[in-house]
Amino acid sequence: MIHLIPRPAFYEEKYGEFVLNSTTAVYADPPLEAARDYFVQSIEKACGIRPAVVVSDKAAIRFLYDVRLPKEGYRLECTSERIIVQASSHAGALYAGISIRQLMLAELMDHARVLTMHAVVIEDKPRYEWRGLLLDESRNFFGPVTVKRLLDMMAYHKLNVLHWHLTDNEGWRIESKKYPELTEVGSKRKGTQTKAWGKKDVEWIPYDGYYTQAEIKEIVAYAERLNIMIVPEIDMPAHLGAAIASYPELSCRKLPMEVPILHSDPNCSIIACAGDDFTFKFAYDIIDEMASLFPAPYFHIGGDEAPKKEWKKCPKCQAVIRKYNLKNEEELQGYFNNKIALYLKRKGKRLIGWNEVLKAEGLEHSVIAQYWTPLKDPRVADHLRNGGSAILSKHEAFYFDMPYAMVPLRNTYRFEPEQLGLSNRNDDILGVEGTLWTEWIMTQERLDFQTYPRLEALAETAWTPASQKNYAEFKERLVKFLPVLDKLGITYCPSHMWDPSLWRRLRVTTKFHVSDAHCEYRRALTHYKWKKKKSK
Ligand code: ACM
Ligand code: ZN
Repeated sequence: MIHLIPRPAFYEEKYGEFVLNSTTAVYADPPLEAARDYFVQSIEKACGIRPAVVVSDKAAIRFLYDVRLPKEGYRLECTSERIIVQASSHAGALYAGISIRQLMLAELMDHARVLTMHAVVIEDKPRYEWRGLLLDESRNFFGPVTVKRLLDMMAYHKLNVLHWHLTDNEGWRIESKKYPELTEVGSKRKGTQTKAWGKKDVEWIPYDGYYTQAEIKEIVAYAERLNIMIVPEIDMPAHLGAAIASYPELSCRKLPMEVPILHSDPNCSIIACAGDDFTFKFAYDIIDEMASLFPAPYFHIGGDEAPKKEWKKCPKCQAVIRKYNLKNEEELQGYFNNKIALYLKRKGKRLIGWNEVLKAEGLEHSVIAQYWTPLKDPRVADHLRNGGSAILSKHEAFYFDMPYAMVPLRNTYRFEPEQLGLSNRNDDILGVEGTLWTEWIMTQERLDFQTYPRLEALAETAWTPASQKNYAEFKERLVKFLPVLDKLGITYCPSHMWDPSLWRRLRVTTKFHVSDAHCEYRRALTHYKWKKKKSK
């Protein structure tokens, strides 16, 4: 068994052991120097041993550039004398270094003077090009330290996309120079809903927070070094309440409103007017500003859960329906999406929307659908057949905000596209993505509980070929890996809660929705207290 998560595509264990200490020399061909520097720095950060960077290609550890290696892939050969890495990109070399760090258990060796690694040959590359995680900071805001910590862990597991949900009804969390009210007004709310969707309890403490553009730039650069692309999600035309509170002229009736607190606030059904030029001017201006911050060739506009009540009564929206001979308001959203998709295309970006965007006919081909709906949506398969692309975020596998009682760890691990009626061989499936919606995640500790070890299971689902996956074997590796999470101060979900019994699943599911979104986590808190006492 090799102690790597995600498990590599191929490996063969050999006889022997490589020993690394502070005199070990590390060389890299020029294109891989940044990956080598990351390797050396992260080993030092993990355990205090700093190998020596040298310019001689006789060094014991060598990062060699080889164009024949696959994108993001690497070859690693470790013998008792040397470690040779071959890669065709920064990403591949970075991942090779991360594999070495994991195999040396660097995080657990802080008082050792040497690290060791068993001899092995690894030939590795990802199953999917899109290995994503969504973080919602509209409902709750975590800030740069938590985001960088998450990015570090994503890279550690070879995940490469942070889908950053920065705006929604409950808060706008990114500075706009052109529309300052978005943060002056839209990043603030008078309180926070605390208990569950079915309960209206509010903690009346003023809440705010947003990223300045300078902070965004710094985080984007930080992620880039880790081979993580950050894709912003700026929702439109729905889930836009915080922006409409800031600029009421965005809505059909232009009435003033406050940033919603309750997730079911009737004002959450107020959406952007699809018949008013100002909506498009605003959208294009925001896209321009965001494009200068996020170089990713993708842009997420949400597009889910768009109530059409306002559009049905709005003369301007109805005039557009008549002018373009649209069948209904669903088609009006299609018209809206296509305008945005074309604008994004001119900027070299593809529009991503949740799979509801496929309800409209005649959607731009370049649109990427992110499949999340718990109910099966045959439109996604049609979209793929017609040359479209998709990202898969199956609710029962990848909604990490849900209790483990609803999304057990085995679901995340065992996900295959067939479960959604999609072919495994479809190249237009870009990949998979876990989602961290934060309606009920108020702290970093709770974020950890919902995230780990789902992140590990997601990583393996995203990276490892299906033929190399086995849940029982994964759990053995995972249990051995937990001390690393402990060492990093990550409050992961305890193992007895990963795959709850049917009885517990039923009990928690009802409670979570109706009365207590924290019922499962409370049980974990008892465990953490017990663990702390035991370790004293
Ligand atoms: C979603 O969870 N509404 C995309
Ligand atoms: Zn309207």
